[in-house]
Amino acid sequence: MANTKTATLTIDGESYELPIHSPTAGPDVLDIRKLYGQAGVFTYDPGFTSTAACDSTITFIDGDKGELLHRGYPIDQLAGQSHYLEVCYALLYGELPTAAQLEKFESTITRHTMIHEQMHNFFRGFRRDAPPMATMVGVVGAMSAFYHDSTDINDEHQREVASHRLIAKMPTIAAMAYKYSIGQPFVYPRNDLDYASNFLNMCFSVPAEEYHVNPILARAMDRIFTLHADHEQNASTSTVRLASSSGANPFACIAAGIACLWGPAHGGANQACLEMLKEIGSVDRIPEFIARAKDKNDNYRLMGFGHRVYKNFDPRATVMKESADEVLELLGVEDNPLLQVAMELEKQALADPYFAEKKLFPNVDFYSGIILEAMGFPTDMFTPIFAMARTVGWISQWKEQLADPQLKIGRPRQLYMGETARDYTDIENR
Ligand code: SDX
Repeated sequence: MANTKTATLTIDGESYELPIHSPTAGPDVLDIRKLYGQAGVFTYDPGFTSTAACDSTITFIDGDKGELLHRGYPIDQLAGQSHYLEVCYALLYGELPTAAQLEKFESTITRHTMIHEQMHNFFRGFRRDAPPMATMVGVVGAMSAFYHDSTDINDEHQREVASHRLIAKMPTIAAMAYKYSIGQPFVYPRNDLDYASNFLNMCFSVPAEEYHVNPILARAMDRIFTLHADHEQNASTSTVRLASSSGANPFACIAAGIACLWGPAHGGANQACLEMLKEIGSVDRIPEFIARAKDKNDNYRLMGFGHRVYKNFDPRATVMKESADEVLELLGVEDNPLLQVAMELEKQALADPYFAEKKLFPNVDFYSGIILEAMGFPTDMFTPIFAMARTVGWISQWKEQLADPQLKIGRPRQLYMGETARDYTDIENR
């Protein structure tokens, strides 16, 4: 990492030179790795709003321009011209595959989609009404018990096998979590179907009748996977990196990422957004909800709006909206009341100075829930679908971190504001 510039920090009359590194895109970074050793001070950045936790070559976001690049390729081009498994290859290996590389990769993923038959019993230990996210966190964490032969992170081949197993098996696990939650039999993956069609078939087919995947829905599903594949160092990816820095096995790291994604401020927002649209119910109630979101004394937020990095539109939301229009038209529900509420909410929010000033625009979760609901998924399957799609991003970042010769266990410090040392007092003296 070449650096040609430095910054001078002066504390109590002492000056310290801190290197500045310039990226290929985005802001310069101030290298503070030696700061505590030299100056005896920590930096303070709760929420890491101004902190680069690593260097990476995978994904770049320009929040002001509304730009998202995966290995340099703009997300709108990938969503429009590529497909999810090709994007997976680029995220994992750095370049778009040749035809031969893609065929081999797709064949490998296809042949890893079944899960160990004994894992079926694992599902049956959950309450019948267990939300699919709870089941997914448990089952993915348990993969280290069933696939112990791909948990040695120091073995390149095992890392590769674990990566393929996770990308291949997440749709199967998500579909099984869904089937279990609705009391229907599990549907095995089929090798004659593409990735998105396979997932739809495992979710919606039943033994009692033929199920034919609608190619437009499969295309929309594949596009949703692509739009959720990776997103720099977001909360769940940072969780995976931190878990991996201790040497934890890949399945444990991905389970940690799923757990973090679950929150409504992150991957749980697509479910929360649809539940919000249902609560609003009709366009005449929108002003009431916008007023609540603006009320400083009310911590209510409009789900699907705002983003830590995008202070302009989220390019994924733009593509997602196009898919929403296609799917709803196909299903003959273009006058879907939820979509009407969503469109009017977006219009009123963006016209409101509060949202404009705080640069709160619809994010990726704003339209995805509408598509998923129109496709027949219950809201508690929205975040599992996000987790499935994001697995390739988590795994790509996990691989990149393990290959970093500077890798250390992540161990942030703190600004301690508690009691200084004091003596223990016996209970009768308290
Ligand atoms: C994802 O990081 C990623 O890349 C995430 C993600 C990915 O692909 O991995 O993009 C996926 O998580 C998308 C975000 C999904 N979450 C939501 O839609 C939930 C609603 N959004 C908010 O919770 C919020 O916008 C966050 C968490 C997304 C971002 O919050 P920030 O950047 O930490 O900003 P903040 O909470 O400090 O808010 C800044 C101001 C505050 O007002 P003030 O205190 O300055 O007066 O904006 C307000 C907030 O109250 N605000 C909102 C709001 N979001 C922020 N007000 C109303 N509605 C909202 N949605």
